[in-house]
Amino acid sequence: TVSAAPYAVADLSLAEAGRHQIRLAENEMPGLMALREEFGPTQPLRGARIAGSLHMTVQTAVLIETLVALGAQVRWASCNIFSTQDEAAAAVAVGPTGTVEAPAGVPVFAWKGETLEEYWQCTDRIFDWSAEGFDGPNLILDDGGDATMLVHKGVEFEAVGAVPEAGPDDSYEYRVVLDTLRASLAADPQRFTRIAADLIGVTEETTTGVHRLYELAAAGSLLFPGINVNDSVTKSKFDNKYGIRHSLPDGLNRATDVLIGGKTAFVVGYGDVGKGAAEALRGQGARVIVSEIDPINALQAAMDGYQVARLESVIGDVDIIVTGTGNQRVVTVEHLLGLKHLAIVANVGHFDDEIDIAGLETLEGAESIEIKPQVHEWRLPNGRSVLVLSEGRLMNLGNATGHPSFVMSASFTNQVLAQLELFTNIDDYPVGVYTLPKALDEKVARLHLGALGVELTELTPAQAAYIGVPVEGPYKLNHYRY
Ligand code: NAI
Repeated sequence: TVSAAPYAVADLSLAEAGRHQIRLAENEMPGLMALREEFGPTQPLRGARIAGSLHMTVQTAVLIETLVALGAQVRWASCNIFSTQDEAAAAVAVGPTGTVEAPAGVPVFAWKGETLEEYWQCTDRIFDWSAEGFDGPNLILDDGGDATMLVHKGVEFEAVGAVPEAGPDDSYEYRVVLDTLRASLAADPQRFTRIAADLIGVTEETTTGVHRLYELAAAGSLLFPGINVNDSVTKSKFDNKYGIRHSLPDGLNRATDVLIGGKTAFVVGYGDVGKGAAEALRGQGARVIVSEIDPINALQAAMDGYQVARLESVIGDVDIIVTGTGNQRVVTVEHLLGLKHLAIVANVGHFDDEIDIAGLETLEGAESIEIKPQVHEWRLPNGRSVLVLSEGRLMNLGNATGHPSFVMSASFTNQVLAQLELFTNIDDYPVGVYTLPKALDEKVARLHLGALGVELTELTPAQAAYIGVPVEGPYKLNHYRY
């Protein structure tokens, strides 16, 4: 159970270690630091009350402290039970000027290895602004859409005055969500309705959360506007690709230390994440096979030099499987039974149902042995084992520390600009889902060039006129794909 204290972290005494890491990360996050310089003096987020649900890492600490530097009040939870870096959570709770004895930071509710019940209680706590004297937040910063979903479900059930019983096909996690909302409704039957009325909007970090937002909008049930941060070019074409290229092998190495070179690796899905995963594995000397359902992505993979095959056609050759589709059950129990002894099974897609772990749990004769936290050997009834990382959840955050600071700086600079857009220009955003204007996307990129010593070529006025763009940009039409 999450305590009633103003924050809930693993160990406050880790704050100093976290602060050192945050200091180093700040040096690698030029976009966020530039926003502090640009907007710190005018405090444009004064009055913003942000409920954040995003992996509580060192990089996220720099994001949170940037929002605070722009005037916002913030409450935070992680968006995954394994992704918190406890030292970062402690440092955020203590704050840059506080002490372990007298914490003066942001209320954060996150630790590595939460149960699902604790996870949803933590998510609920970011909506409880009674300590600050309010019903709730006026902005959500979301990653995967869980915080947004909680409000929408809360409002839906409050309208009928009851939370339904779970159906037989509902997952264990959805049952926990229903229990969380049942407790909320019993304590205050209009709580989420009041919270939703105060909400200006949400900024959403990832592909899966964006997908959920567009679904709500299409169904006519979206309650407030959303900015799709994922589809800023400087987010999905950088974080999803180059971030995974770094953090996937990091997770594999920390989890297993198995040599990747010479192995056969299979990447399920060749979107932005899959492209980064395949490149990283090939870079380590693996033979990489890709699967896709979309002919365009399949053709891209083939042109990039990968074999493209169905998993079942090559399953017996595979040493490492990585899923990154945002889809469900792309690796089935049947696939797992076809693998070599001690093959590694890992997911970097947002939710934990890409690999059918639930199916493994009910498979007769299968048993799980913990090798170390977030690394499990599943002994299968056929006498072979597979190594499952992070119980099928995001392994780059569960087994390693997620994407590195520099690439997260680009993502989070988009996040801060999106929060600023909603808070200061809300009239431009009736209920719907939007991406940031291209000028801001280019601004994010520009803020990261200097640190890499990039020398950008300037258009001459004649060249600008010839290709029909302003000298200062934007340089591309919205449909350009990069
Ligand atoms: P995307 O939409 O660019 O790529 C997903 C690809 O999977 C698509 O090309 C789709 O055709 C393919 N696909 C769908 N079902 C498939 C199936 N059954 N078999 C083979 N391929 C299939 O999405 P993106 O941006 O690559 O994101 C993928 C997932 O990763 C999402 O859940 C996203 O939220 C998550 N993500 C995770 C990150 C991390 O740090 N671990 C970072 C960024 C995104």
